[in-house]
Amino acid sequence: MPDAPQITESAVESAVEAALAAIASAGDSAALKAARAAHSAEGSPLANFNAMIRDLPGEQKAAAGKLVGAARARVNEAFAAQESVILAAEEAAQLAAEAVDVTAVPSRWRAGARHPLSLLMEQMSDLFISMGWEIGEGPELEHEWFNFDALNFDEDHPARALQDTFFVEPAERHLVLRTHTSPVQIRSLLTRPLPVYVAAVGRVYRTDELDATHTPVFHQIEGIAIDKGLTMANLRGTLEHMAHSLFGQGAQIRLRPNYFPFTEPSAEMDVWVENAKGGPRWVEWGGCGMVNRNVLRSAGIDPNEYQGFAFGMGVDRTLMFRNGLNDMHDIVEGDVRFSRQFGMVV
Ligand code: DAH
Repeated sequence: MPDAPQITESAVESAVEAALAAIASAGDSAALKAARAAHSAEGSPLANFNAMIRDLPGEQKAAAGKLVGAARARVNEAFAAQESVILAAEEAAQLAAEAVDVTAVPSRWRAGARHPLSLLMEQMSDLFISMGWEIGEGPELEHEWFNFDALNFDEDHPARALQDTFFVEPAERHLVLRTHTSPVQIRSLLTRPLPVYVAAVGRVYRTDELDATHTPVFHQIEGIAIDKGLTMANLRGTLEHMAHSLFGQGAQIRLRPNYFPFTEPSAEMDVWVENAKGGPRWVEWGGCGMVNRNVLRSAGIDPNEYQGFAFGMGVDRTLMFRNGLNDMHDIVEGDVRFSRQFGMVV
């Protein structure tokens, strides 16, 4: 076993210098911890010197104690100083790593847009709700009785021909894809107490090929009002109000005689659209009339007591001439770039 080192000034001084060098070169907490283990903890030269003091002859203890104590104090001070430098640097580095750039431009999912048809149908529904009407609904897969019979269509009416209507098998169930929203008239009359003021918007189906102005799936708005003493003046006023709210105060309507099985008299309705794309003009807008007495009877209503009016128009068509669209494909294709032009982002 080598001789234990003596507590001499130079031995203590070189232990202190070795410790100070290790402390100065420790760049982070881990290195400082290692330096502490080597130069200050139990087993280190300075700790060993300290332990040796106990075994010295009494008269040497005081001087040795002073020498070693001062050496340990210098080293401890150096540790404390370096430790605070390292902690500050490490904290600064952590803050820098966690920094958030509040001015950075966020990356976002591109929002879609509501379909302009949905927006228009909502606008139409809101208009009738604002007049105190209710919103009615019916199934798109409809019974022939609601779609035709109750609406006073003859057995051999051309609209029942296969080339216009999607009949759904099996034939004995008499189901069709509704060809118009008019069956909602009957459903509303059968389920509500009188008087009835109901508007309904929704999808309808006809066996048309998709082209610039036709689509086999399109949309209609229907209205029916049954009360005591309603006349064509009430019909006209309602349609006029609707035209003003959809096309502006310059809009007017014009009724021309026509035929529908479920109204008598019946009229074709044109609207004068002041701000139509391409200039002001009359546009065919839909059909209307006073509800046929046979329709009232189908719904169990006495036509001598209650009368009313009904109307129906195409929503897709309305959108096209109101907004100057000339190709139905734009409406059915669902390209968000088309929908966005109507301004409503989800
Ligand atoms: N249902 C008719 C159609 O699809 C439109 C229509 C005409 C509805 C006259 C009505 C009406 O309510 O009174 O062409």
